[in-house]
Amino acid sequence: MKLLLKNGTIVTSGKVFKEDILVENGVISKIGKNLSIDSGQAVDLHGQYIMPGGIDVHTHFNLDIGIAVAKDDFYTGTVAAACGGTTTIIDHMGFGPKGCTLHHQLDKYKADAETDAVIDYSFHGVIQHINDEILDEMDSMVEDGITSFKGYMTYDYKLQDKNMKVIMEKLSSLGAMTTVHAEAHDEIQELRKKYIEDGKVEPIYHAKSRPVKAEVEAIERMIKMSKEAGEAPLYIVHLSSGDGLDVIKKARAEGRNIYAETCPQYLFLNEDKYLEDKYRGLKYIMSPPLREKNNNKRLWKGIAEGYIQTVATDHCPFDFKLKKELGSKDFTKCPNGAPGVETRIALMYSEGVTKKRISITKFVDVVSTTPAKLFGLYPKKGEIILGADADFMIIDPKKKMTIEHKNLHENVDYTPYEGIDLVGYPTMTISNGEIIVKNGKFLGKKGRGKFIKRNRF
Ligand code: URP
Ligand code: ZN
Ligand code: ZN
Repeated sequence: MKLLLKNGTIVTSGKVFKEDILVENGVISKIGKNLSIDSGQAVDLHGQYIMPGGIDVHTHFNLDIGIAVAKDDFYTGTVAAACGGTTTIIDHMGFGPKGCTLHHQLDKYKADAETDAVIDYSFHGVIQHINDEILDEMDSMVEDGITSFKGYMTYDYKLQDKNMKVIMEKLSSLGAMTTVHAEAHDEIQELRKKYIEDGKVEPIYHAKSRPVKAEVEAIERMIKMSKEAGEAPLYIVHLSSGDGLDVIKKARAEGRNIYAETCPQYLFLNEDKYLEDKYRGLKYIMSPPLREKNNNKRLWKGIAEGYIQTVATDHCPFDFKLKKELGSKDFTKCPNGAPGVETRIALMYSEGVTKKRISITKFVDVVSTTPAKLFGLYPKKGEIILGADADFMIIDPKKKMTIEHKNLHENVDYTPYEGIDLVGYPTMTISNGEIIVKNGKFLGKKGRGKFIKRNRF
């Protein structure tokens, strides 16, 4: 089946140019002026941008946190992602039963995604303990295409520093990336205990009990360990603070092997949200928490200057109804996480490109190309070149839209971005040469997405 994209403006992370794209059998077969076809479908994209499909390298579909399961599964979550312009996700697998193997979670997640996902997908491995067997198993995980892993410095399965270093050494030797949730556990635990004992149970104490300095201290420790592990590649997920960014800036200026991701919530929202009345602040309980407003600006600058390489979502949706039921008397009981997989591209385009905080090529770079490069998907994904997968997001730069939960496909009862006015919105999503979303309507089939065996870093 042939698909011809005509008269659009192609935008990659490196250039903007006006040419047509011919797709055959799901891959890009020709790029040039005045292309035509004798069979198949031609689409006129005059006035619209054709960009590599969005790549969201941080989702949590079906995440089981014991007290609740994240509301989007691999069907609803990937439909929402697709409707927002994303064509590939890399999901962070959740913790499995105590002592389980790495493949235990991979097998479970693969089975779920295989029947449900509507766009291409992969997973980050999750490390909840280590011993010789787990270290040996990393080899076969990497062989199986899982070339990045997440370790946590907080939560129940937090890893000790000495183990983190061993993990980084091993992963680096395999050409795999260590990703880390960087928050200093002990300090947070002490503060949480103190606030609850003092009767300070409202959502704002979630932020106060996870201060910026806990993120800074954890990032500093991880960067030091990466050096001790022979400059092992290290990727800081969901960076939330300007001070944390300063630590990363310094390390990168020294030529260190450090990468950072931030998320729309840390660019668009701030700590004041926790003060909304009637417990609405619970909607924003996530870790790390929202920060004081000045951090938004500092993180945008970090993206524009290249110190932050990716923008992902950390999509982890729980209904506000449930958050209230569990957390209205004690913020520590509220499930952590918020939705965002469908709004990432539109928010970043409108607030980033339309409002001139970042260039259009930088936008493509942080939402697609560099995520593909860092996580072994490039150049099949994240690029518009001959032979690449025909995954595109089409953006109409003039289309106006107000974000409203009722129009989104995320399977959750709110969006943190309600009421934000946008200029520029995805109008079409193409995955492997198939138009799967047109004007907000999902047209694809359940289970059409495929597992991508990722390359080594
Ligand atoms: O609050 C969050 N971010 N929940 C998802 C798990 C994580 O730490 O990424
Ligand atoms: Zn995390
Ligand atoms: Zn996460």
